[in-house]
Amino acid sequence: MNISGRKAVVLGGTSGIGLATVQALEHAGAHVVAVSRSEKNRLEAAKTVGDGVSFRGADVLDRKALEALFLDEAPFDILVSAATGGARAAGPFLEMDLDAFQASFRKLWGYTNSVRLAARHMAEDGAIVLVSGYPARKPSLGAAAISTVGNAVEGFARAIAVELAPRRINVVSPGIIDTPMHTTPAEVRNQLLEAATKRMPISRLGQADEIARAILFLIESDFTTGATLDVDGGARLA
Ligand SMILES: NC(=O)c1ccc[n+]([C@@H]2O[C@H](COP(=O)([O-])OP(=O)(O)OC[C@H]3O[C@@H](n4cnc5c(N)ncnc54)[C@H](OP(=O)(O)O)[C@@H]3O)[C@@H](O)[C@H]2O)c1
Repeated sequence: MNISGRKAVVLGGTSGIGLATVQALEHAGAHVVAVSRSEKNRLEAAKTVGDGVSFRGADVLDRKALEALFLDEAPFDILVSAATGGARAAGPFLEMDLDAFQASFRKLWGYTNSVRLAARHMAEDGAIVLVSGYPARKPSLGAAAISTVGNAVEGFARAIAVELAPRRINVVSPGIIDTPMHTTPAEVRNQLLEAATKRMPISRLGQADEIARAILFLIESDFTTGATLDVDGGARLA
């Protein structure tokens, strides 16, 4: 797919990986609609992009709002979702609050809502990209919830790729990326992230634009569907 002149909707497009993707798509000549819940985030993000990007408010868990948004923006060619959907549970599974474990699946429900409601408005040669995360295939103590959700996201894309064809759906699996998702105070955050990346083959934090480049690769790559692309500095091997 040649991205230039295409229309893209990016859910979670006002921060981190989603915002970097919005910027990269605009740079490649797409008309982009960036979506998130908070107006404050949208106003901040608007300062970092040009006229090729418009902003809309919607929660990916609100099907009515999503349906209205997609109908309004139809037809479009590209759908990216990097919306986290809400908080994820961390800690040992055997001790964790099971409601918090279940709530971690908001990311998956956001993705399933978005794909289901957007697909009918997308071009036949359209492309969808979702974001999982390296814990899906590199489980570690305390990461049972995000690991399970990440596997579900990757499995969902594989499960529906045949049904969606000739539209394509793929997943990018990032490593630890320097984005506002990591909300702990700066000094603690930097120490934690440094410790977490130390043993990885590429021992540094990833940057949001490195994930955005992989997302654009999957959009452009007409012969790829149902795939997961690891862009994790080798985190899944460490
Ligand atoms: N950063 C990492 O280290 C890392 C690693 C592996 C995987 N990932 C995955 O990569 C994706 C993007 O993460 P990020 O680090 O870029 O996060 P981020 O900087 O926190 O950005 C998340 C974006 O999603 C939007 N959002 C969250 N919940 C939403 C909802 N219910 N409806 C609509 N928009 C929503 C947020 O805006 P509003 O708050 O305004 O809605 C924001 O624009 C996520 O799926 C995350 O799990 C991240």
